[in-house]
Amino acid sequence: MQKKVHIKSFGCQMNAYDAERMADLLAGVGFEATDDGTDADLVILNTCHIREKASEKVYSDLGRLRELKNAMAAQGRPMLIAVGGCVAQAEGQEILRRAKFVDLIFGPQTYHRLPLMLRERARTGRTIIDTEFPAEDKFDALPPAGRVEAASAFLTVQEGCDKFCTFCVVPYTRGAEFSRPTDAVLREARLLVGKGAREITLLGQNVNNYQGPAPDRSAAGGAWRLGRLIRELADIDGLERIRYTTSYPADMDEELISAHRDVPALMPFLHLPVQSGADRILKAMNRRHSADDYRRLVEQLRRARSDLALSSDFIVGFPGESEAEFEATLSLARETGFAQAYSFMYSPRPGTPAADLDDQIADGVRSERLRRLHDQLNADQIRFNESCIGKQLPVLMERPGAKPGQLLGRSPYMQAVHAELPSDMIGEIVTLNIEQANPNSLGGSSAAANRLRTEAVA
Ligand code: SAH
Ligand code: F3S
Repeated sequence: MQKKVHIKSFGCQMNAYDAERMADLLAGVGFEATDDGTDADLVILNTCHIREKASEKVYSDLGRLRELKNAMAAQGRPMLIAVGGCVAQAEGQEILRRAKFVDLIFGPQTYHRLPLMLRERARTGRTIIDTEFPAEDKFDALPPAGRVEAASAFLTVQEGCDKFCTFCVVPYTRGAEFSRPTDAVLREARLLVGKGAREITLLGQNVNNYQGPAPDRSAAGGAWRLGRLIRELADIDGLERIRYTTSYPADMDEELISAHRDVPALMPFLHLPVQSGADRILKAMNRRHSADDYRRLVEQLRRARSDLALSSDFIVGFPGESEAEFEATLSLARETGFAQAYSFMYSPRPGTPAADLDDQIADGVRSERLRRLHDQLNADQIRFNESCIGKQLPVLMERPGAKPGQLLGRSPYMQAVHAELPSDMIGEIVTLNIEQANPNSLGGSSAAANRLRTEAVA
């Protein structure tokens, strides 16, 4: 009988990509993926360690899974529980201490060994912990992408981070920066397009510092940066849209900025985390940009592509942040005018330098600042969405919408857009008249369908 695996992924898009690859890998050893967490032979929690709240979720989920595992055992059905991702990487032994019933613990750099771990588990009956940073290339060991679930696919091109922002765990959980070779990336992109992807989002913790070894290593430098890679990807027949995330402001180079001007498939939307608008705080965070560097960069990008919509990440209440410094963040956000943005309350993470700073900000102050920034960013987002009313936008239809007869897609600016369309339009790019703006989505109707309707009436 075919076994079933349920993978629950938390956190960033790279985790979502990793989860898909785990499913591909496990399909090769007889596991079928299921969305039903209560009917699986193997449950994998693909965890996130970025903020305290994210990592604590794992332990509450494990509590529920323990009961399920016991109930299934009583029916004679063994169930395996695995913890993967960044919490597993950071807290392997601690997970085992708090949840002895966990069968497998593995990090983001070892999931390609899952079939091996399962065999080891069956052989020894003991919990397997595999959280090394292996020397072999995980990507070489993974099977080719098995299925493309939507017209939009993720493709990891770069992993890890050498930036060591003083608040962040990623350099410890994901390891050093590594770029996949250009030929492997192009091959995977062609495969994804062959399986129905119209849009590819290139992923990396520092994706704009991509330096992939090129096939012709005699060429100057021997490596392509992201701008060059995007130009090559744009030549793939059937690939209509390219995006990339996440970028580090100081790594934004001329080649990539000019790709925004020259490559029509490169979508006019960029997630460019700034974190703070105050130079003293940016320095204490070990960010390698000032507030003005960021402003200049945005100007340059908008000169290259005038309709570029921007998104960002902000942290409020970093240790020592004064009211005036917080207000500098509000100002930078207001001036830039983000189409959307994420704001977070600073969360001290064990092992990071900022967690040991003396001047931690009181909870109440942090949450009050978060509310103020959040309200302002929200208002900007609504304003941006409203500015789209009356426009015609090409929307890549991805899935059924919430209401019957509706489909949901994405605008070039990453907005969710719903419209009444037949379900065979999933996977198509449809020009929609934008008629409605909500805080988190747009509503539109098909320009072509409207024309047909008017002609019929006439
Ligand atoms: N370049 C990375 C960013 C990772 S973390 C990537 O996309 O893979 C995503 C965001 O979480 C950061 O930009 C930051 O704003 C926020 N973040 C990271 N560490 C945090 C902490 N300790 N407290 C609060 N927010 C944090
Ligand atoms: Fe984290 Fe800074 Fe790297 S936010 S992922 S250490 S760029």
